[in-house]
Amino acid sequence: MSNVLEVQGLHAGYGAGDILKGVELTVAEGSVVTIIGPNGSGKSTLVKTLTGLLRTRQGDIVLKGKSVKDLSPPERVRAGMSYVPQEYNVFRNLTVLENLQIAHEFMSAGRGGKRGKPLSDEMEALFPELPSRYKALAGNLSGGQRQMLAFACALTVKPEVLVMDEPSAGLSPKYMTDIFDCVKRVNEMGVSVLMVEQNAIEALRISHRCIVMANGRVRLASDAAAVLGMRELQSLYLGDVKEAEAPASAAAG
Ligand SMILES: Nc1ncnc2c1ncn2[C@@H]1O[C@H](COP(=O)(O)OP(=O)(O)O)[C@@H](O)[C@H]1O
Ligand SMILES: [Mg+2]
Repeated sequence: MSNVLEVQGLHAGYGAGDILKGVELTVAEGSVVTIIGPNGSGKSTLVKTLTGLLRTRQGDIVLKGKSVKDLSPPERVRAGMSYVPQEYNVFRNLTVLENLQIAHEFMSAGRGGKRGKPLSDEMEALFPELPSRYKALAGNLSGGQRQMLAFACALTVKPEVLVMDEPSAGLSPKYMTDIFDCVKRVNEMGVSVLMVEQNAIEALRISHRCIVMANGRVRLASDAAAVLGMRELQSLYLGDVKEAEAPASAAAG
């Protein structure tokens, strides 16, 4: 299977020192990859670097065989990588419909085709709570509905890879289940997914691969099922796993 995304020796940071210190990972076409790791390990920094909000200092980001590290965030979206930020991911003072329209027009300039319905039949089925709320202000939605809207906005451009930073953060158990169910269904439609998650068990149940980050590096890359079966799962995302505890099949890559 070929890789839709390859991250090679990636360095990035905010000030003098690097936060990401040589991150290596791949996302196989059609797969769901979940990144876990302790707070401050660089997960959001990685997402920001992949999506172009933070400059790549060293290394490369290869999307469908082409380097995107020097592209702007909108150019990366047009190249096929869409992004759902962790926070501030919708315009709260605009309606649901306006959010969807802006997402489509802004993100897909030069890429998207003609615009018909705000959401395709497929997307309406995926986000059944949105169509009846097109005229509602996004700020008046529940947290779960707002996350669904952000998700729908990211999908309006028909991405090859969807990058999500903690999509279930702060959601009620019901919406957490719904969000992961949506991720699974979107993946079944052919979209590869790279997501950061704190709710490791729920996320790994719908994932093919798991990547554990610690201190700005990939500590472990393994099949999600293997990580779910590890007794040390808790310590993995708390960040104190030792090399010897990793299963033999879990070589980084
Ligand atoms: N905007 C920023 N400016 C300076 N340092 C930051 C900024 N954002 C994050 N950091 C630092 O980068 C490190 C990694 O943070 P982050 O990528 O948010 O971790 P995670 O998402 O894994 O919790 C932390 O030490 C954090 O303090
Ligand atoms: Mg984070």
